[in-house]
Amino acid sequence: MEQTRRHLVGLLLGVEEDWPQAFDALLRRVGPVTADGVTHTFDAERLTIEPFDLADPVRADLIIDRLAHWYYHPREWLKKAALVNGTYLLNSPFTFQSMEKHSAYCAMIRLGLKVPRTVLVPYKNPVDNDRWAYTSAKYNLPFDLSAIAEDLGYPLYMKPFDGGGWRGVSRITNAEELHRAYDESGEMLMHLQATVEYEHFARALTIGAETMVLDFRPDKPMHARYAVTSDFLSPSAADETRAISRIVNAFFGWEFNSAEMLVAGDEVYPIDYANACPDVAVTSLHYYFPWAIAALVRWSVYCLATGRRRSPADLQTQRYFAIADDPALDYRAKLAAYSALAEEYLDTERYQQWCAEHLPHLDEQVLEWVSSTAFDRVLKETVVATYPPHEHHHFLDYFHGLIDQWIVDEARRLRVPQH
Ligand SMILES: Nc1ncnc2c1ncn2[C@@H]1O[C@H](COP(=O)(O)OP(=O)(O)O)[C@@H](O)[C@H]1O
Ligand SMILES: [Mg+2]
Repeated sequence: MEQTRRHLVGLLLGVEEDWPQAFDALLRRVGPVTADGVTHTFDAERLTIEPFDLADPVRADLIIDRLAHWYYHPREWLKKAALVNGTYLLNSPFTFQSMEKHSAYCAMIRLGLKVPRTVLVPYKNPVDNDRWAYTSAKYNLPFDLSAIAEDLGYPLYMKPFDGGGWRGVSRITNAEELHRAYDESGEMLMHLQATVEYEHFARALTIGAETMVLDFRPDKPMHARYAVTSDFLSPSAADETRAISRIVNAFFGWEFNSAEMLVAGDEVYPIDYANACPDVAVTSLHYYFPWAIAALVRWSVYCLATGRRRSPADLQTQRYFAIADDPALDYRAKLAAYSALAEEYLDTERYQQWCAEHLPHLDEQVLEWVSSTAFDRVLKETVVATYPPHEHHHFLDYFHGLIDQWIVDEARRLRVPQH
């Protein structure tokens, strides 16, 4: 008798409505998948936040979460689910504490990547704690902030060690700005970081074993930050940005993350690469939205149907450090060796074969859905929810233009005739 297995994807969501609806619509189009004599079916459900017994069962088999880096309750629930119930999580809650950028800098420095020089300075105003006055009087040494800054060189960046969403980031050009920014940092713990003079800002969005390196323009408003361009980097810088984003993810056990790198010529400087479950709103990603949601569906289905497992808390970082310490390897050779570990972690070859065999029509179904009135409804609702009424018309036209461009390009790629 043929076996069947039903898999439930749990979504832990914030304010977003667009991509969860897209995810749901595309997951439904996957239909039952039969692999090795087992028929798999897939459903998605939004999870709610409730008190939980640490030994409770968990119904979802895989969880995509947008909350854990901001809220403790869902984060602690995810840890319990990973350890007690073996639930598959796209991002490890053990290494993704509060989008913590600092440990990612440390790890990448240890691997010999070109992280700009970064100094962590003590709190300006320490967190409230009645023993603090005594501790700081006794152990906090006075330090010369200006001297640190001069050593790093102006301009420099002051930004919170745990980063996220440009909160508290400032570009500092002189001692006066430096002291003002530090005084204002209050209870935030700050890094000072040397500036990278760059030509391109590459944002690599990695979802499972798929990566898209995007041309990002941080000075533009949200809807215009991702340029629709290909080949904006030299072939070597393109390979390197892609490799670094995958190495970071594999190193920490992250499978839905975006990594930011500043690129000058062939040099790639990673500056921010702990953005768990990043913004994938249709109003940010536009042209790249169908790819992102389809990749999220493909990776979820692949993990569930193949029973992919990984240890939630064991990173085996020594394997990376052994490469870092090998004197026979130069920078390129190290990147290649880290990449081999990353591709092994991400299961890249098997994933590609599995998708080709079991999801051969998904791309066409994505194209069909994005061309449908159902997708258009999601787009309209998102525009209405995101912009003031007098801008609805303008933004609908704008996003329609970009989505239409994707439809034309995708139809050409898939050789599907256009109506
Ligand atoms: N070392 C740097 N050199 C040049 N620009 C930087 C540097 N660090 C940060 N920036 C600029 O500041 C922005 C915010 O910094 P980032 O580290 O990405 O913080 P967040 O985690 O808040 O996104 C970056 O997108 C970039 O434009
Ligand atoms: Mg950033």
